[in-house]
Amino acid sequence: MIIGVLKEKNKYENRVAASPDEVKSYVKSGHQVIIEKSAGLPSGFNDASYKESGASIHSSKEIFNKAQILIKIQLPNKEELALVKSNTVLISQVQTHLNKDSIDFLNKKKVSIFALERIPRITRAQNMDILSSQANLAGYHAVIDAAAEFNRVLPMFMTAAGKINPANVLVVGAGVAGLQAIATAKRLGAIVYGTDVRSASKEQVESLGGKFVMVEDKESKDAETSGGYAKEMSAEYQKKQEALLADTLKNIDIIICTAQIPGRKAPLVIKKYMIENMKPGSVIVDLAVESGGNCEYSQVGKIVNKNSVKIVGHANVPGRVASNASSLFSKNISNFLSLMNFESKKSFYDLKDEIIKSTLVCANGKILIK
Ligand code: NAI
Repeated sequence: MIIGVLKEKNKYENRVAASPDEVKSYVKSGHQVIIEKSAGLPSGFNDASYKESGASIHSSKEIFNKAQILIKIQLPNKEELALVKSNTVLISQVQTHLNKDSIDFLNKKKVSIFALERIPRITRAQNMDILSSQANLAGYHAVIDAAAEFNRVLPMFMTAAGKINPANVLVVGAGVAGLQAIATAKRLGAIVYGTDVRSASKEQVESLGGKFVMVEDKESKDAETSGGYAKEMSAEYQKKQEALLADTLKNIDIIICTAQIPGRKAPLVIKKYMIENMKPGSVIVDLAVESGGNCEYSQVGKIVNKNSVKIVGHANVPGRVASNASSLFSKNISNFLSLMNFESKKSFYDLKDEIIKSTLVCANGKILIK
């Protein structure tokens, strides 16, 4: 097959869908890889390294024309959509609920679209799980971003000139990103607190050396879906959580927000009055900013200063460590592609496979996931 790799056009996107290492493995498996000029540069992969791995360098137009499979990080933008040729297979993040028009447009051209963020969280698909690979890096980098904006150090220092107390860090949401943030803040010497609505996360927070803070009531016992995700909590629960956090925050210097509910706006956890009561110099990093934010003042791509509390809303945090993020994303895609049987004359994917069924948004002119 001819696999096409495009340079990502989104303003905040530094990642690329194939690393030189992955190109090498595609070529070894008998595929041809064509890649857009400078596609890997923001991730630190130059054209020479792709050529060495066996890819050839082309313009985006040539790639749209020649590729049978297009692999991308983000769905093609408005200008690119027109260039996608009929019957191409497109593999990328899709966010079906936000991109219905683009999906309809591509479906009319009989493009098959696979949405990587819909890969089910089953053991067999762990090495294809882009949400985990990218959230892990985001959780790490959120702490690095917080430390860079903070006007103090994180660990305790005993010096001849006096003692410096360690910083207190609260991580809101103890999923993949949150647990990595807890581990990173702990490694940097901070005192770390973690909170979640799923009581199952208590043991994980504590095993990383964090102190668990949570409203435990009847509702929280049933706060987890069968897929391991959080449910949206009632207004009553949110009130109790707000009171607990408002009290905890008196002590906190850095908050890392990671709370998400799949397919919905992120829950608003840190309210204006809570921020106004925080110590000057405190820092909040909101990893949920692109899905509405956990913090009332956060804005995508901005650092907002409110009464000397900084609210950091960097967009696409995995893209801030683009080299690692691209390598892991590329590996996730190549593991996903290993499900396909390209030799088959009929169809190279098996619609009965749970992973294929969960990710195939449209094929042969039919919308399969709405
Ligand atoms: P996510 O990105 O959807 O949410 C992040 C965290 O925010 C979750 O822990 C969630 O419970 C929490 N949250 C939601 N609303 C909240 C609120 N109002 N206040 C505080 N916290 C709130 O979740 P993520 O990180 O993708 O993982 C969710 C689950 O999936 C976890 O249980 C994780 O262990 C599991 N998982 C399973 C995998 C597998 O089996 N292959 C792979 C990765 C994750």
